[in-house]
Amino acid sequence: MPPPFDLHLARRPRRLRANAALRELVRETVVRAADLILPLFVSEKITVRRPITSMPGVDQLTVAELVQEAASAWEVGVRAVLLFGIPTGKDERGSGAYADDGVVQQAVRALKKAVPDLLVITDVCLCEYTSHGHCGVTECGEDGDFHVLNDPSVELLARVAVSHAAAGADLVAPSDMMDGRVRAIRSALDARGFTNIPIMSYASKFASGFYGPFREAAEGAPQFGDRRTYQMDSGNAREALREAATDVEESADMLIVKPGLPYLDILWRVKEKFGLPTAVYNVSGEYAMIKAAAEKGWLDERTAVMEMMTSFKRAGADLIITYWARDVARWLTEQ
Ligand code: PBG
Repeated sequence: MPPPFDLHLARRPRRLRANAALRELVRETVVRAADLILPLFVSEKITVRRPITSMPGVDQLTVAELVQEAASAWEVGVRAVLLFGIPTGKDERGSGAYADDGVVQQAVRALKKAVPDLLVITDVCLCEYTSHGHCGVTECGEDGDFHVLNDPSVELLARVAVSHAAAGADLVAPSDMMDGRVRAIRSALDARGFTNIPIMSYASKFASGFYGPFREAAEGAPQFGDRRTYQMDSGNAREALREAATDVEESADMLIVKPGLPYLDILWRVKEKFGLPTAVYNVSGEYAMIKAAAEKGWLDERTAVMEMMTSFKRAGADLIITYWARDVARWLTEQ
């Protein structure tokens, strides 16, 4: 007796999962090495790599080490890096961020020379360069409270972007969250003839507990106050869309949602609404927590990471900024 018709139907899901080849054939979401962006930290303060305790496997690098690291990433299929710099000196206005011979500018030149086809993206922000550790210029008001001054900060950020482009950066990524900075950066780039350098903007960047390890890595923790006056409140999804809309209107070419895991809904909505190339930033805290659990043997790193990468793409990410970029690229070829 053949089974009743509804049982034929009911068995369809299982039939499509019967073996690995079949599962592969019907898989909707795939991660590719070319989707990955590797963040790297280059420091002017060191002569040899310095491990970041809260991010096992990630180090602060000298320019020469950075070039090696980027070249080895390129070899396994990673096509893009995102640079953060740690300068020797900091000041109120973060002048190291827009110095022609600043550490990021030096690194960009060295990278473009050694690995010319590698896409070099630079983080455009002031927090690693200001003595107070904020992403913009600050002032102490009469109330004794400090304020981040939006417009003077934007002016400096535009200078940072231009100096990165002049050093040879392929793409600039402003992460400061000041208002109007995308427009200011676009005009400044255009005025200097860098009309073809795209802006990948951190459109929806939330004030997050998941940035902790990064602040050790980039030595950019605020010395007073926090970033809640310019980064977004984690409860606000509609505001995230408004922030993204502003950046799109100001001519951002690509958008970033950050952090990743706790904000997959935002990622989905930003992608659906604007349809621009959208990146997700799988931030330092997300890295640290899986590393720590894996070290204890509480979960399998590779399985968890690949699942997480797939979830980013499923939620709409075209690109994934991740400290695992090299491992993921390698795992993909081993599959
Ligand atoms: C700062 C910046 C931060 C990150 C990238 N750029 C930290 C912050 O806003 O405090 C975080 C990245 C990470 O946690 O991996 N402009």
